[in-house]
Amino acid sequence: KRMTVPALKGRKKADGDRFVTEQPLVMLTAYTMRNAQLLDPHCDLLLVGDSLGQVIYGLPSTVPVTMEMMCAHGAAVVRGSWHALVAVDMPFGSYEASPEQAFASAARVMKETGCAAVKLEGGEAMAPTVRFLTERGIPVFAHVGLTPQAVNALGGYGARGRSEAEAAKILGDARAVADAGAFAVVLEGVMESLAEEITRAVPIPTIGIGASPQCDGQILVTEDMLGLFERTPRFVKRYDDLAGRIGEAVATYADEVRTRSFPTSDQTYRPKA
Ligand code: KIV
Ligand code: NA
Repeated sequence: KRMTVPALKGRKKADGDRFVTEQPLVMLTAYTMRNAQLLDPHCDLLLVGDSLGQVIYGLPSTVPVTMEMMCAHGAAVVRGSWHALVAVDMPFGSYEASPEQAFASAARVMKETGCAAVKLEGGEAMAPTVRFLTERGIPVFAHVGLTPQAVNALGGYGARGRSEAEAAKILGDARAVADAGAFAVVLEGVMESLAEEITRAVPIPTIGIGASPQCDGQILVTEDMLGLFERTPRFVKRYDDLAGRIGEAVATYADEVRTRSFPTSDQTYRPKA
């Protein structure tokens, strides 16, 4: 049975005057059916992240990512999963103008993919939109701190919340989206002290990426943790070197074709004896 939004949100429980998550939530990105199949048994949530812009399409940032890309990959991931909740990122330009624009875009994503939730970037400024969607049947996964769609405004991908003023702003952002009804919030690229403060302050799960072990769960870009993508930030732990392994396998194949040692009779159709 597939994880639901209330069940996932409910993993963070009231305990007296604080909130605790006994077992941290496990999340990864997925963009394709086959990767979804492989990750699904291990994850509480699969995110069809707009990081597919860089990872799949070779784009310079997530800014050029389109609704068509998110819908096509979102549908593939839903088809390849049965256990994890699937959330799809709203691409830049599809939701910021108004709550009405966001609703139309999010409804399209849900209809075309079958996903149960959407994710969008932004804090206080997006809170009315988070409320508008939530009240109309669209669960919202929020994302504050380092918000990659704002790279042109932020000037880069450096960690956020180093100054007290910036940390206070990000805490306010997390509070605002939680109050507006988001079921969980990604904290990206923030200082540990801030992640800890936010995790204590909001009743919804905080999901960290470059945001310390203080969060209620963790997410990584799958290609990064598998060693499949070339540039990886400091907060990524490489659990394997799939790029190296693919390189070796393909080099062996190329060598065998060139030396005529592949294919052999095992891979060849001949009349039955
Ligand atoms: O696009 C993405 O992959 C993300 C996460 C890593 C949080 O937004
Ligand atoms: Na994203």
